[in-house]
Amino acid sequence: MSELPGLPDDFFAREDETPDEDFYQDPRFTTHIDDATIVALTNYYREVLKPSDRVLDLMSSWISHLPNEIRYRHVAGLGMNEQELARNPRLDRYGVRNLNVTPVLPFEDDAFDAVLMAVSVQYLTRPFEVFREIARVLAPRGKCIVSMSHRLFPTKAIYAFHVLPPADRCRLVGTYMHRSGRMTDIEVHDRSPANADPLWIVSGTRSPA
Ligand SMILES: C[S@@+](CC[C@H](N)C(=O)[O-])C[C@H]1O[C@@H](n2cnc3c(N)ncnc32)[C@H](O)[C@@H]1O
Repeated sequence: MSELPGLPDDFFAREDETPDEDFYQDPRFTTHIDDATIVALTNYYREVLKPSDRVLDLMSSWISHLPNEIRYRHVAGLGMNEQELARNPRLDRYGVRNLNVTPVLPFEDDAFDAVLMAVSVQYLTRPFEVFREIARVLAPRGKCIVSMSHRLFPTKAIYAFHVLPPADRCRLVGTYMHRSGRMTDIEVHDRSPANADPLWIVSGTRSPA
């Protein structure tokens, strides 16, 4: 997959630059994509994740979309709203962290076999730093799985996600992975169900040590 060449700085700006803590202060016990799209994402996770995996759900909420019947070795979550995270039945541990202020993951190197980011990547204003951190906390051959759809909180999504068509949004996320310097096999999977919100998944693999 080719990466986007020069990226203008204002790609990463947002209409609402007030603190994200304010925007995410109240919990939202809602879903952000249609039920059929959630099923498609869960099916993808079922195909690519193994029960022995240590999983990190980044930009997490009360729902992680993991298959109910599979227990993973460990699931950690990071998000913005503590009440949502406390209610997420899949998380063995969680933390609150604003990645736009502190784009550092509070985990050791090689700590996870999979890092997930569901329908949230458009809110990152410092994505290159975050994806370098994702590569750091992934074990060699670990998977980074970023899913995207077309809904967004418009004032909080970066400009790039307003102006780029879907294929270029996927390439942009592929560029985040590529520029971490430690991810290979970057692929786009269109798993959009019929008559429901689309689902594009960009996956990358942490290069062998
Ligand atoms: C559309 S919701 C998606 C939540 C969940 N991943 C899902 O699939 O339902 C966007 C999520 O992005 C997270 N988020 C937004 N801005 C963030 C930031 N600055 N730092 C960390 N997480 C952020 C919030 O926790 C919020 O739950």
